[in-house]
Amino acid sequence: MSKVYDIGVLPGDGIGEEVVRESLKVLDAIQSIHGFQTKREHLPYGAEHFLKTGETMPDAAFDRIRQMHAVLFGAIGDPRIEVGKLEFAIIAGMRHRLDLYVNLRPVKLYHESLCPLKGKKPEDIDILFLRENTEDAYAGVYGTTKKDTDYEIAHQSMIYTARGTERIIRHAFELAKKRGPKPGKDKPLVTLIDKANAVRAQDIWTRIFAKVAKDYPGIATDHAYIDAACMWMVKTPEWFDVCVTTNLFGDIITDLGAMLIGGMGIAASGNIHPGKVSMFEGIHGSAPKYKGTDKASPLATILAMGLMLDHIGQHEAAKELEATVAELIRAGRIRSLKAGDHKCSELGSMVRDALLERARAHR
Ligand code: IPM
Ligand code: MN
Repeated sequence: MSKVYDIGVLPGDGIGEEVVRESLKVLDAIQSIHGFQTKREHLPYGAEHFLKTGETMPDAAFDRIRQMHAVLFGAIGDPRIEVGKLEFAIIAGMRHRLDLYVNLRPVKLYHESLCPLKGKKPEDIDILFLRENTEDAYAGVYGTTKKDTDYEIAHQSMIYTARGTERIIRHAFELAKKRGPKPGKDKPLVTLIDKANAVRAQDIWTRIFAKVAKDYPGIATDHAYIDAACMWMVKTPEWFDVCVTTNLFGDIITDLGAMLIGGMGIAASGNIHPGKVSMFEGIHGSAPKYKGTDKASPLATILAMGLMLDHIGQHEAAKELEATVAELIRAGRIRSLKAGDHKCSELGSMVRDALLERARAHR
């Protein structure tokens, strides 16, 4: 009997619905080709559900998800609801409560026409970002006193634990080892990105990085402060291989990274706890103005679904999906990921059909 995976499907708000729908269309094809099955459970959380029921994401939902293999997620965010409320309860909720400490964000250029930098080619931009995903300014330790007075004080703590810092750094070294050196290099490279010169609490990252690096003599290391890293990303992205960074800096620099490879329409991410249920999403938001217009690119979610396949153990399916998307871009059939340049449904069908075609050709 073929393997059956339990997948939670959480489309969420805005364009979430359509990008997830297209991804499932692609999943239908890929599972028929690779001979596995998915049992999909719709998770209704998001703005509409909240407005109807007053519920963000209940404990029972987390209990259900803990029984699953993975969650495919669309997007959250709706102008009718207080800023951050649903994002915190649902996105950060899953990251924190399921302890998804690895935020894996590949920044990989599939064709030079998608890159706004002059003269950069696919071989120049192939970076794996590891964003710590449970601590830092996202730990939820903040407050305001004397609100709405001239003496108002607002603060939010950047919190790093030894355990939290070590596990993400170690994961970065492990992935670098698995990935191997980039073409033309003799060792894989892990770069630590922080701001320990100003945020002195990040000295814990400096120390733990040095300690973990000793266990990996076959891996080269480097360091960049976040401000300089942003500069190098634009000037010489080819210097980077695997990068590990804090939650907030990882959030910011991966948006910059997304723009180097074609924009938010193609940047995928995995929120991962190795060996446990994990959540996969595009790094984009809900783009409410495009909701229901069939204009948003589903490729970010489709590629995130590829990361999901890899996570659940369908490595060949994952590889083939990425190769198929890459080939469609290289062949010029997907020319742009900007909203409206292709229809959402058109891109989903294109990837699905290309997969089925490949399967027929290889049979
Ligand atoms: C992301 C998003 C979230 C974050 C928001 C929506 C809370 O920007 O996944 O990158 O800051 O992590
Ligand atoms: Mn972000």
